[in-house]
Amino acid sequence: MNKKRVAVLISGRGSNLKALIGACAAPDFPAEIALVFSNVESAEGLTVARDAGVPVVAFSHKSFASREAFDAAVDAELEKAGIELICLAGFMRIQSDSFVRKWEGRMINIHPSLLPAFKGIRVQQQALDAGVKISGCTVHFVVPELDSGPIIAQAAVPVLADDTAETLAARILVEEHRIYPAALRMLAERRIALRDGRAVLLT
Ligand code: GRF
Repeated sequence: MNKKRVAVLISGRGSNLKALIGACAAPDFPAEIALVFSNVESAEGLTVARDAGVPVVAFSHKSFASREAFDAAVDAELEKAGIELICLAGFMRIQSDSFVRKWEGRMINIHPSLLPAFKGIRVQQQALDAGVKISGCTVHFVVPELDSGPIIAQAAVPVLADDTAETLAARILVEEHRIYPAALRMLAERRIALRDGRAVLLT
């Protein structure tokens, strides 16, 4: 099987990365994690990658003069590794328009809310503050506007009366680990594509 070469971009813990690596271990999975990149050299997720034998590259955005220069350096690493698809998994950097445009249709993100509700950060607290009774997670194509790309997959969880941001986050995370690999499979199998600003199911 000709597996798609995927890069996962992280900044932290790496639990979604772990779920993706786990899914890719199945012989019939149509993608392989060929590179993990982090802009945080101490990110826990780098250990997850190294333990799984996945090549890692890490350098901080702080040593670059501009967002564009950092993104160009990341892009050079992706090209060097022959990357075809990108999964953002807790990557805490806004990317330049030129980088996003270049990878449009080939870069996806996981977000812990039911978009378009609750964009940005601390979204579980936003959900609690809003008093919603259902929240969840979303996998979407990445477009220049933050957390606004066409939706590929979503899963819902209940918000319970005694939830804290942490307990809600933990319940959502279980679903993240389920739908992110499923969405990557769809993309790698070309069963979904970005067409005219929408995520379209292909037959
Ligand atoms: C996840 O909640 C993801 O939805 C959000 O950042 C968090 C990353 O967690 N974008 P992890 O690093 O995958 O454990």
